[in-house]
Amino acid sequence: MKVLVIGSGGREHALIWKIKQSPKVTKIFCAPGNAGIQELATNVDIPVEDIKALADFAVSEGIDLTVVGPEIPLVAGITDEFKARGLNVFGPDKACSEFEGSKAFTKKFLYKYEIPTAKYKEYTNLSQAISEIDTFGYPVVIKADGLAAGKGVIIAEEKETAVKTLKDMMEKEVFGESGKRIVIEEFLEGIEASILCFVDGNKIIPMESAQDYKRAFDQDKGPNTGGMGTYSPNRLFDSELNKITKDEILQPIMEGFISEGLDYRGVLFVGLMIKNNVPKVLEFNVRFGDPETESVLLRLESDIVEIFQKVIAGNLEESDLKWKEEKAVCVVLASGGYPDKYEKNKEITGLADVKNAVVFHCGTKCLDGKVVTNGGRVLAVTAIGNTIEEAADIAYENAGKIYFEGMQYRKDISK
Ligand code: AMP
Ligand code: GLY
Repeated sequence: MKVLVIGSGGREHALIWKIKQSPKVTKIFCAPGNAGIQELATNVDIPVEDIKALADFAVSEGIDLTVVGPEIPLVAGITDEFKARGLNVFGPDKACSEFEGSKAFTKKFLYKYEIPTAKYKEYTNLSQAISEIDTFGYPVVIKADGLAAGKGVIIAEEKETAVKTLKDMMEKEVFGESGKRIVIEEFLEGIEASILCFVDGNKIIPMESAQDYKRAFDQDKGPNTGGMGTYSPNRLFDSELNKITKDEILQPIMEGFISEGLDYRGVLFVGLMIKNNVPKVLEFNVRFGDPETESVLLRLESDIVEIFQKVIAGNLEESDLKWKEEKAVCVVLASGGYPDKYEKNKEITGLADVKNAVVFHCGTKCLDGKVVTNGGRVLAVTAIGNTIEEAADIAYENAGKIYFEGMQYRKDISK
């Protein structure tokens, strides 16, 4: 089989690392890929937004399966285009991708099917939003409705910041079209969990749980990022919380999809906030999480290509997912200044010294025969161990061997 993976981050590197282990696969392409991915696959220089060129490539190369990593092509309808051309593609269609394309769409769905989530209201009128903001209490959560590259959620501690945020989004349009409609939510306290699920049109089957660390600095200080590290399984997820999540969150989601006539096939990422064993939905993403995928896939025993095929065919069973008992920890090495301004093209050294860990590349490229930084999140150092502590020790020991100018990482992932 020839497989095409779309994207260029640590998530796509981890997907390709796992796909490569399948005996069904003879050749892997990645568009556009990165310096780490190119050791396992052939990089193809097509941007993720150029759906027509990606489909043309898949047709001309005779690709048997395309796996879509990021949300942008999914929300733009890549799956519909590929299907219309008779191509096999893993990822939800445009209608289902609205769950990531619009926060208001997701909130309406959650309310309709009585799935626990924060209280909210959507607004398109700035003065109405300002006049009602106090009713949510403080801190208050303000979200741009559309895609905003993970930056569209602001938690405002008091009114002044809240009003400024509303004006920035709705009047100054700092997130463009995405902020013309906004969602205001009550602030939820608790511990977050990421539950990535395979959905095959009929069934929703969760993968092993993970926890993401969203803030830039230790002790959850600093600005929100795309994710500075993960571990799996999430410590909170004992058999009781697993059952509560299945019964009160996942099952009603699947019933909702079916009654809305949504033929969801792909990964649904359910972001949860958990307090006193009560999970509430924070968000949906319509794709694998990054850096959740790095730690979760390191623990997957089963052939992922077989899983993709069964999801597309609509006949996935829980027994198709086999997991290692070992735990996984992933530490993201980021550029100095991330998530704000940062420099690129810094030479990365020490990669050859890594032992017993897998270093997934998030933002790297080759320049004059050297591997250099090419993004905010640069590398995801991932390891497994018999305990979470052992996995973390191995990941951190290896992170310490790698260097690039300005490198920053959290020291408390999984701790
Ligand atoms: P989202 O993209 O909706 O998951 O929001 C990004 C991050 O903002 C989440 O991972 C949480 O850390 C935080 N967040 C979002 N909604 C809420 C909420 N209602 N209460 C507390 N934190 C939230
Ligand atoms: N790690 C969070 C995300 O992938 O959206």
